[in-house]
Amino acid sequence: MIERSVRTAVLAVLLLGALLPATAGATAGVVVSGDSLATAVGVEVLEDGGNAVDAAVAVALALAVTFPEAGNLGGGGFLLAFDPSTGASWGLDFRETAPAATDSLFYLRRDEEGWDQPSLLGPGAAGIPGSPAGLWVAWKRGGRLRWRRLVEPARRLAAEGFTVGEKLPRHLREAREELTRWPAARERFFPRGKVIATGKRFVQPELAAVLERLETEGPDFFYRGDFAREMVEAVRADGGVWSLDDLASYEPLWMSPVTVVDPGDSTLQLIALPPPSSGGVFLAQTLFFLNALGVRDTAADSVERARILIESMRLAFADRNHHLGDPRSMRLAMADLIDPRYLRERARLLPESGRGDPRAGPGHPLREGVHTTHISILDEEGGAVALTTTINSSFGSKWMVPGKGFLLNNEMDDFDTRPGRPNTYGLVGSGVNLVHAGRRMLSSMSPTVVLRDGRPWLVLGARGGPRILSTILQVYLYRTVDGMGLSEAVAAPRLHFQGIPDRVFLEKERCWPRLEEELRALGYGVDADSWMAKVQAAEWDGHRGLGAADPRSEGRAAP
Ligand code: DON
Repeated sequence: MIERSVRTAVLAVLLLGALLPATAGATAGVVVSGDSLATAVGVEVLEDGGNAVDAAVAVALALAVTFPEAGNLGGGGFLLAFDPSTGASWGLDFRETAPAATDSLFYLRRDEEGWDQPSLLGPGAAGIPGSPAGLWVAWKRGGRLRWRRLVEPARRLAAEGFTVGEKLPRHLREAREELTRWPAARERFFPRGKVIATGKRFVQPELAAVLERLETEGPDFFYRGDFAREMVEAVRADGGVWSLDDLASYEPLWMSPVTVVDPGDSTLQLIALPPPSSGGVFLAQTLFFLNALGVRDTAADSVERARILIESMRLAFADRNHHLGDPRSMRLAMADLIDPRYLRERARLLPESGRGDPRAGPGHPLREGVHTTHISILDEEGGAVALTTTINSSFGSKWMVPGKGFLLNNEMDDFDTRPGRPNTYGLVGSGVNLVHAGRRMLSSMSPTVVLRDGRPWLVLGARGGPRILSTILQVYLYRTVDGMGLSEAVAAPRLHFQGIPDRVFLEKERCWPRLEEELRALGYGVDADSWMAKVQAAEWDGHRGLGAADPRSEGRAAP
């Protein structure tokens, strides 16, 4: 059900280095994204001598045209890059920010005033977009080709159109009731009352005009001047509260990635991101707990593996939902939440057998401190980029900026908009992730690069809200502990557990038959027919990049 309302496109672009200088022609890299047209754009950039950052930027922009469910100009995300010239990684937070006119009671007031799903629908649900500024600064820092070369494929796809595949009309039909509430999206996606059809050419002239400005001017026009004023006026006319100052003060932020040495295999290092992404903390905690519970002695298809995954995630999600948020709101330093002394103490709560205490709350580290499209890239010199971007739900807030041809996000729902009550992913926050003017909402998006002996080996990322976290963890285990090949690891059955609700979510059709029964016998509540996140993964096999698009998605790996 959530699966239909929520979609983050996932693109994994993996450019892995043939140890050759970049030249035009075939590439040893690989691009994996949630859409085949966008994948093709990325492959061409690589073949043109572009690096991982170039390809990520071009694919992200192409997705804004061909995959409006999640690709975006009106959303945000995170980018993680491995720079082969320095051997170091950098992270970029281009997450949306809360408008200055919002506060922790904003959505409770809107509920009382009778708004329909105010944190999910319409421009009142939209944070200030980070994508135009974020892609630009990422390119400035790490790109090699000209900016125009990277925007042009997206502009052309919008101006000349592309042949509509099977998935866009299906997704549009699923979101029809909401998308047709406001005229701009209705006219774009449902001309003359009919959904745009498979096999037809889909041209988006307004979006093409915006991309043309982006191509020739860079992103400043989006945040300042007439364009920004028109956006703010339209947002406010339909119930949003953006101001010109919210846009003018938007800034992408550099992040120091988190390095997690796999406690079960010190040759493997996972590079992930700190808050407001929850990926780094989640991976550090769960890998510690799994190792403490002897994950390497369990079989992939055993109930004991499932049990220790569930119990590790129970503790990690409790900490995530209580302690994590915009770092400026956090009362604890992230380092304290992943400190081995704290984790050893916390691991005492893990049951040796059977089901853990469903009341397990967040932990309390001793020291007080301060506190869904994915792109992964490894380039010809061995550089890597993982980029996840989203407008949150499928087609975001369902609200298109009139005359501009792009949808705004509904990322405000990732804040704890109504403390103690579940958001659209069933996440219940009770901690520091309250709506706060100018701050960023907590995210499950977790672009991840795994280094083996210090070199990029795996690039992982997914869409699927909190299932992103459980998915990256399980694909990593299948590949490293169970020795499955990349495609097998991506396709293998998964479970999800986030503490609240106290139920294990399974993919019945992929799981071995006894699992559901065995988990029930241990006392777990089970939802056996659940959807899972869609991961797009890439791997360097020593000679070239291999890609695996999740068979649960319509993604494609190429070449
Ligand atoms: O940042 C987050 O955690 C969510 N906005 C991600 C949304 C998502 O993955 C939707 N995918 N199906």
